[in-house]
Amino acid sequence: MGNMTSSAAASRVGSGALHIACIMDGNGRWAKRRGLPRTAGHTAGEEALATVVREAAQRDVGWLTVFGFSTENWVRPPAEVRHILGLHRKLFGRIEELNANNVRVNWIGRPFDEPGSRTPANVQKAIRQAIEDTKHNTGMVLTVAFDYGSRAEIVRAARHAAEFSPGGIAANLYDATLPPVDVLVRTSGESRISNFMLWQAAHARVYFTDCSWPDFGGRQLDEAIALARTHRA
Ligand code: FPP
Repeated sequence: MGNMTSSAAASRVGSGALHIACIMDGNGRWAKRRGLPRTAGHTAGEEALATVVREAAQRDVGWLTVFGFSTENWVRPPAEVRHILGLHRKLFGRIEELNANNVRVNWIGRPFDEPGSRTPANVQKAIRQAIEDTKHNTGMVLTVAFDYGSRAEIVRAARHAAEFSPGGIAANLYDATLPPVDVLVRTSGESRISNFMLWQAAHARVYFTDCSWPDFGGRQLDEAIALARTHRA
């Protein structure tokens, strides 16, 4: 953890704080089973995430990284994309809750000024505002991957490393301060990695569960943590 500031390090429980990364899958199927529109599944997914953030902040989790929106998700129907973007603004607006849990918001994804960036101005603003409003928190770091794709991240990092900066690929990722992922979670019975954190999760344990993301909570989090601890023992 050599790249953490000392104040942040001091606030985390021991040096064993984990990095958990989540692919939050199954919102659509969760909704379908209930006869609801897919958007209702995403709404429930955002609420589940708020719960998981709170639960993780109370455990020995130093970093929680979630796949909020992939570079491939833009092809979904416009109304669904609009709904998911609105949920990101909702999540980034939960400042009071995040501050109460001492959670610092962070973001990784295609830079807004890069050609081809599609992130609307209101989402950019929500991301910037949440980062600003939680920057003093010294507890868990919640990183939302938005307009994120891991291969694009690695290609960009390799180019940057070659052109401008020493330190290799690791030093040129979207956020070089993120430690390696200890456990990668994927919900809803899928067992694919889907272009998420390929570099950072190279040595991660993987926790696959049949549980849909809207049903994910403290019990599943404990199972994922137990898996990470087995790995470290
Ligand atoms: C997968 O469900 C989830 C996504 C496409 C990402 C969106 C996640 C949320 C809205 C949860 C809240 C998170 C944030 C950061 C606001 P799916 O539609 O692929 O489900 P399916 O495979 O059952 O169709």
